[in-house]
Amino acid sequence: MSLLPKPHGGKLIQAFDPTYDVTKIEKEIAIDAIALSDLELIGVGLFSPLTGFLGKADYESVVSDMRLSDNTIWSIPVTLPVSNEVSETLEVGEEYKLTYENEVYGVIKVSEWFEPDLKKEAREVYKTEEVAHPGVKRLFERGSVYVAGEVTLVKKPEKGVFGDVWLEPKETRALFEEKGWKTVVGFQTRNPIHRAHEYIQKAALETVDGLFVNPLVGETKSDDIPADVRLKSYRVLLDNYYPKERVQLGVYPAAMRYAGPREAIFHAIARKNFGCTHFIVGRDHAGVGDYYGTYDAQHIFSNFTEAELGIKPLFFEHSFYCTKCEGMASDKTCPHGKEDRVILSGTKVRELLRAGELPPSTFSRKEVVEVLIDGMREKTTV
Ligand code: ADX
Repeated sequence: MSLLPKPHGGKLIQAFDPTYDVTKIEKEIAIDAIALSDLELIGVGLFSPLTGFLGKADYESVVSDMRLSDNTIWSIPVTLPVSNEVSETLEVGEEYKLTYENEVYGVIKVSEWFEPDLKKEAREVYKTEEVAHPGVKRLFERGSVYVAGEVTLVKKPEKGVFGDVWLEPKETRALFEEKGWKTVVGFQTRNPIHRAHEYIQKAALETVDGLFVNPLVGETKSDDIPADVRLKSYRVLLDNYYPKERVQLGVYPAAMRYAGPREAIFHAIARKNFGCTHFIVGRDHAGVGDYYGTYDAQHIFSNFTEAELGIKPLFFEHSFYCTKCEGMASDKTCPHGKEDRVILSGTKVRELLRAGELPPSTFSRKEVVEVLIDGMREKTTV
């Protein structure tokens, strides 16, 4: 019997069917890159128990209470926005092809459509209505009618450079079993892995069997470091500094929502679906700007019992290198002052990298920085 957690809701959804006959379906809905990613992740069960884009009752319940209408914990609405014009062509019970750049990736059987209260969604999910927030900006831009219905994924998007590190939940579950891991900690990131990330990963790995390094490679905001460049940096870091038999790299091809606390819950659920027993939540998880308190993404977990959530969050304080301790530390373990701590903001690091300058090795491994500088240089010269 598997010791890995059961998928969220009890069953791993498998809604991929490449043999599905789409030729007799005439109508189609063109979807954006985020909806394409959501479609795929519903199809392969990463968003279990979702079987489609949310209907009105589920949507309103998720927005207000962080639960689906059957009470299952769910913190981020997964919706299919369309324009008013498109919504006027819809019919309940009809099938529509879901197309991206003129290719058919899926089919939706429309159960309903509705006008969401986007301002309320922004306030409840993102804690702000400001369009300076990248998640809110996208929310207001994407479409004012949500189409709901069960989906079938008929074609998987090409994974390009991520091909060998995109493992679906059914594959990660089999892999963790094969490795004999009874406890696995998942790690989310949208950034290169710096020393603080490495420190909290390895601190977690001291107490569990395996580490699943699971960077998000879906849509991010334009000033985040591109995922293909990050991937090279993850590979070089893992090759040089991580024990192979205890660490697995795999990507998380979801769009980044920047929804801080709500997204931390969402991230934890997806990692549970991958088969993780534990999930790392550090400082300002999935945050952006100053929209969330440093530890809000940890506090939100107190709304749920671990039994109900089915994955154990591991909380870490803000970590840094301390020149007096001569090692990585946090307020919990280091008695020294600010002046002894190497702390750089993400913005500062991106500036250094773009200028081709190396952040100190106490902040980021030299091998990682070199890959990032090369990668950024290539991007700016093409
Ligand atoms: S995130 O948007 O994907 O959460 P990021 O890649 O910065 O952003 O963080 C990945 C994980 O590491 C998150 O759980 C975050 O809370 C944690 N983290 C990032 N930097 C630190 C730090 N200096 N100390 C402790 N935890 C951190």
